[in-house]
Amino acid sequence: MRIVGLNGSLSSTSNTYKGVKAVLDHAAEHGAETVLFDLRDTPLPLFHPERRDQLADENVYRFISLMDEADGIVLGSPEYHNMMGGAFKNALEWVGGRQFKNKPVALISATGGPSSMTTLSAMQSMVRSLHGWVVPVFGSIPGTTEFKPNGEFRDPAMQLRFMTIGAELIELSKLLKQRRQDWEQR
Ligand SMILES: Cc1cc2nc3c(=O)[nH]c(=O)nc-3n(C[C@H](O)[C@H](O)[C@H](O)COP(=O)(O)O)c2cc1C
Repeated sequence: MRIVGLNGSLSSTSNTYKGVKAVLDHAAEHGAETVLFDLRDTPLPLFHPERRDQLADENVYRFISLMDEADGIVLGSPEYHNMMGGAFKNALEWVGGRQFKNKPVALISATGGPSSMTTLSAMQSMVRSLHGWVVPVFGSIPGTTEFKPNGEFRDPAMQLRFMTIGAELIELSKLLKQRRQDWEQR
């Protein structure tokens, strides 16, 4: 089972990154192979629909390949202007239904305010349009959230919530992988 996470924040102190990592760590504890694609280390060029030469970009190739091979996906975006961040949205323009169809997708968003539900709802709408299956438990990270040095949430309820997201993602990944295999054999 391969789970791929995307951190869509470029901030050096990103809470989005910490949330995506918490889900991936929990998935890894349950035997998943996890990969975190972090836009801070592997930036992607601005998507242009007519620039096919951009597909030769090393980071673009790696991102598309990882998403192709993923059985489950964790998407993390910062909340900017009540919406997905631009770098995050740009990354998603490099992929489409081929990478998302019949795959489960966990959604994480960090905000400066108390809740990033507007952004998470927009992310949900985007994933639905790509025919992905949204994990029902959302990962909203309020601006006041504190983390331990090992990356865990200080609040046990938050830690449990992100572990639940990881557990649901793994379970759905298994079910949907089987479903994709069944369809391929028809
Ligand atoms: C350009 C910009 C726009 C933002 N817009 C909002 C916003 O609409 N609502 C909000 O609560 N916080 C907003 N914030 C605060 C971020 O959501 C907050 O810093 C969050 O932690 C960003 O995620 P990150 O820590 O992963 O970078 C904004 C920050 C920036 C830089």
